[in-house]
Amino acid sequence: MPDNAEKTPEHTTLPLGLVSVNQGAVEVVGHPPTPTRKSILDLRGLWWPDWLRQHWLDRGASLAGITEPTVSQVLYSLVIANKPPYGLPDVPYVVVETGVRFGATACWLALAVNAIDGRYIGIEVERVMVDGVNKLFAKHGLDKRAKVVCGRAPDAVTGMFEQTSVDMFFVDDDHRGPHVKREIEKFWPLLKPGGLMAFHDVVGDFPVWELVKDLGGIKLVHRPFNVFGQPPFGGLGVAQKPMG
Ligand SMILES: C[S@@+](CC[C@H](N)C(=O)[O-])C[C@H]1O[C@@H](n2cnc3c(N)ncnc32)[C@H](O)[C@@H]1O
Repeated sequence: MPDNAEKTPEHTTLPLGLVSVNQGAVEVVGHPPTPTRKSILDLRGLWWPDWLRQHWLDRGASLAGITEPTVSQVLYSLVIANKPPYGLPDVPYVVVETGVRFGATACWLALAVNAIDGRYIGIEVERVMVDGVNKLFAKHGLDKRAKVVCGRAPDAVTGMFEQTSVDMFFVDDDHRGPHVKREIEKFWPLLKPGGLMAFHDVVGDFPVWELVKDLGGIKLVHRPFNVFGQPPFGGLGVAQKPMG
């Protein structure tokens, strides 16, 4: 049982009245809160550092297009599980995220590469997000191995990475079909053999899952968000580049 599990507050109502925490289960309610418009995200048993959990809650939890913490934690685990000797010794594990926003996943990935001496590069088009997340990295000592750059994916990767040099992409920017197709075309050659291309929002209105399926990928869905009676969205798709 991680240290911070004991400290999880009961019935903490945060500013705006948007989110309350009851023994680790986060309740996302309408604004103004109404009993009929709410969804429960059960985070009991999920380990995360206090500062990161607070950052996620402060940013309005699921309400602003932020990745579910369970998805971020699966990505974190995939990075940790691939630490040397499973990767190439002496070659850092490189993770690239497109679409960083408030850094909900970026922080998890930064923690992961920090643990295995890898590298995280986030690509985000909004300067204010770029600066905010880089500040957060610096505040928590993660800026040696992790940084966010301002750019528009997929073109921003041109000249940034060599062919077969990236271990994992987490694609979470613009989910429209033609854009995601271009990202796959551009990113796939940059992946190392055996590398992973992960996609957020394989559940929802976007055609992401069809594209992941075409790559031979799998769909991992913990419990897609269903906020305010909208159709569920979220989830994680992962495809692996063949080794040969
Ligand atoms: C769904 S949010 C990302 C959520 C984030 N991955 C997380 O873990 O919470 C999408 C982000 O992608 C950014 N974005 C949209 N189009 C982009 C593009 N072509 N290149 C880079 N970032 C983009 C938006 O500014 C926004 O911050």
